Amino acid sequence: MRKYFFVLLVAIVLVLVIAGTASANGGPHGGYTATTDACAGCHRAHTATGPKLLVETSTYALCMSCHGTTGTGADTDVQDGYFLSTRSASTTGTANTTDNAPLLAGGFDFYKTVATTSKHEMTGAGNTNLAWGNGATNRGVQVAITDATFSCASCHDPHGSPNYRILKATVNGAAVAVAQVDEGAAKDYDTEQWSTGQSNICAACHGAYHKTNPGQGSTLDGSTYTHRIGMAYTYGANANPETVGMGGLTLPLAETGTNNTVACQTCHLPHGSSATMAGFANGGPTGSGTQPGNTTVADSALLRLDNRAVCEVCHQK
Ligand code: HEC
Ligand code: HEC
Ligand code: HEC
Ligand code: HEC
Ligand code: HEC
Ligand code: HEC
Repeated sequence: MRKYFFVLLVAIVLVLVIAGTASANGGPHGGYTATTDACAGCHRAHTATGPKLLVETSTYALCMSCHGTTGTGADTDVQDGYFLSTRSASTTGTANTTDNAPLLAGGFDFYKTVATTSKHEMTGAGNTNLAWGNGATNRGVQVAITDATFSCASCHDPHGSPNYRILKATVNGAAVAVAQVDEGAAKDYDTEQWSTGQSNICAACHGAYHKTNPGQGSTLDGSTYTHRIGMAYTYGANANPETVGMGGLTLPLAETGTNNTVACQTCHLPHGSSATMAGFANGGPTGSGTQPGNTTVADSALLRLDNRAVCEVCHQK
């Protein structure tokens, strides 16, 4: 009896190992074989309830059926911004990610248990396909992206991709390369492991914000000036904002060889943020500002820290 149990155990472990190494993308996203079952998890040939033959009414609803608050198909709960290691059968990420850890991308409805104050909106009244600075010279202006409906699949490829976190190889008509530095099937959803090209995903829709020249903040570009990004971090006495912050706060940088570089995600969360904005950070000097160029109590512009704590981590004025 015990011998059969042992054989069974070995068989189960083997199946898990094989399933786990089949794809570096995680979950049902890519690495498909010729006789894969994966398609049936998301598509129906004749009885689909959503366009693109989806089993849910929309791409957003499909993703949330596994990744949302009530989903049971994935451990990454992107709606509440948590990794829940035991809620699904998936073991992807479990070994390297702390149970209940806040997710790297933030959360769409909640982040660190607080309701979000801004998010990339893909449902409801705020849903639009108009992106600030879409194009080379349109900073501060909203221009439509190529996707008529802005959705999870505007940024991620559900069928897998060569990029980090299955970010699409073509976004808004532009080729996007974001180096994959995470570790095959193991995955780590609560420690930044960004590498070359981490800002390329943002630049695909907000190209006018992706300005990398030295002294960019004092060089007129179009009708406005903008903070430089993409540079190796060196500023004043602060050697490294990843370890030396103000008030114990730190910010992540992207790893690129020996130089750690500032990325859009150094200051912004890609899904949603619950940062609070008050005083000058609530509408600017006149207190009545609107987007773009302002944050308000109701719109934190996806900033990862309260008010302008992001500035103080690096500049420490
Ligand atoms: C995790 C869910 C998921 C799985 C698994 C999946 N798909 Fe899809 N597929 C989607 C979504 C979502 C879209 C629509 C994307 C969008 O909104 O642009 C799509 C679109 C498509 C399209 C049309 C657009 C394109 O990319 O060409 C085809 C064809 C397709 N899927 C085939 C397949 C096949 C074949 C399989 C199995 C190998 C499969 N899909 C597995 C979610 C999935
Ligand atoms: C604007 C682009 C964008 C959109 C839209 C988007 N994501 Fe993401 N997502 C990202 C980026 C960038 C990361 C990588 C975050 C990191 O590692 O710092 C990510 C990470 C993730 C992860 C890994 C866990 C984590 O938080 O790092 C999951 C799961 C995920 N996204 C699912 C979704 C789902 C589901 C939707 C739609 C409800 C969605 N994403 C919409 C850009 C996007
Ligand atoms: C059938 C369930 C299911 C559906 C539907 C689904 N996912 Fe996933 N997804 C998973 C699982 C399982 C993982 C592995 C990590 C985990 O357990 O959360 C995963 C992982 C991911 C990751 C992280 C990939 C990486 O490189 O680590 C992203 C991003 C993601 N999904 C996006 C999406 C998007 C966007 C959609 C909708 C188009 C979607 N998922 C639909 C089950 C699903
Ligand atoms: C596929 C196109 C697309 C990509 C890629 C994309 N965005 Fe956006 N972004 C949009 C659209 C559309 C809006 C306006 C609608 C909304 O807020 O959901 C927006 C809005 C924003 C806002 C304003 C949000 C607010 O509530 O004030 C910020 C900040 C932002 N994006 C930053 C980023 C960053 C940082 C990245 C990279 C991680 C990124 N975006 C990637 C399309 C995109
Ligand atoms: C990740 C670290 C980091 C963060 C966060 C950061 N900065 Fe900077 N900042 C730099 C670096 C590095 C430079 C030098 C850029 C260059 O080489 O031109 C710089 C340059 C500047 C300059 C000088 C611009 C010029 O060209 O004359 C100003 C002003 C400035 N930052 C303000 C801010 C403000 C305000 C914030 C918050 C919204 C902020 N910074 C957030 C690192 C940072
Ligand atoms: C040094 C921190 C920092 C970095 C790096 C950064 N941003 Fe921002 N971003 C901000 C702040 C602060 C705001 C709020 C408005 C303001 O003060 O200009 C903002 C606002 C925005 C907005 C909302 C519209 C607007 O202009 O108010 C978008 C879109 C945006 N950023 C995109 C990006 C993209 C894309 C990148 C990378 C190419 C990026 N940001 C890098 C700090 C940063």
